[in-house]
Amino acid sequence: MNISADNAIVRLEDVRLSFGQTQVLKGIDLTVNRGDAVSIIGPSGSGKSTILRCINALVQPQSGRITVGGTRVDQLTKETERISIRKRVGIVFQQYNLFPHLTVLDNIVLAPTRILGSDRREAEKLARELLDKVRLTEKANAYPGQLSGGQQQRVAIARALAMKPELVLFDEVTSALDPETVGEVLWVIRDLIRDGMTSILVTHEMRFAEEISDTVVFTENGRIVDQGSPEHIFHSADNPRVRQFVSGLSGRGGVRGGEGI
Ligand SMILES: Nc1ncnc2c1ncn2[C@@H]1O[C@H](COP(=O)(O)OP(=O)(O)OP(=O)(O)O)[C@@H](O)[C@H]1O
Ligand SMILES: [Mg+2]
Repeated sequence: MNISADNAIVRLEDVRLSFGQTQVLKGIDLTVNRGDAVSIIGPSGSGKSTILRCINALVQPQSGRITVGGTRVDQLTKETERISIRKRVGIVFQQYNLFPHLTVLDNIVLAPTRILGSDRREAEKLARELLDKVRLTEKANAYPGQLSGGQQQRVAIARALAMKPELVLFDEVTSALDPETVGEVLWVIRDLIRDGMTSILVTHEMRFAEEISDTVVFTENGRIVDQGSPEHIFHSADNPRVRQFVSGLSGRGGVRGGEGI
């Protein structure tokens, strides 16, 4: 099945998911167009990470439709099919989980050579280009333990990009970082978005979300309560919960530490 008739790369329709007796997603409708950046904001436990996990087939909803680049992800039955979706959809987590015994370059080269079967020389060439992109050219031969948290997270982003994904999911990738390294990671993500990488970001960095998003989605208690332009969500939302949430967080979440880069 192909959905190339429109520009949507991700489409969720009435997605419902429970863990045991707990309803976590209660009918999610979300469309992400190719080249867009969509931010998902909302209180803890509202289902943000679960939405991302549905999109790259880490969890399967009980009902609803999920289409990613023409593939019905909700209908996949084999683990091999789910793995093939994960090759196409990059995900970067709060915990970067680099292999400590491998150099930065080897961490980036590992998946393309092992999973995609890329030629080692080509994979290394791409890895070096990606290290330039994440501003870590000189760290190719360093080990993760020799890098700051922000640098390790940028390696994790390069590692995701090395698979040449159709889109990238970012799940609170700056939440565990020291404040002074948050900015350098946000700069890298901003560059990617400007280059046209389709991105879905769960973030508490409100000013960043406002700046880079085409659409901002507000989730609460398993539902999308409101979505629209950054201007709508951050400055003219009618919904009192949205207004309360964005005003409550307005004092934090800027591009901290990013000024000097
Ligand atoms: N594997 C699981 N088993 C049982 N319950 C789960 C599981 N994963 C998530 N949940 C529950 O689903 C709800 C939504 O979780 P989710 O991680 O999607 O929230 P979130 O919006 O990402 O929150 P946070 O901002 O804290 O990361 C929570 O109540 C959580 O406890
Ligand atoms: Mg989460």
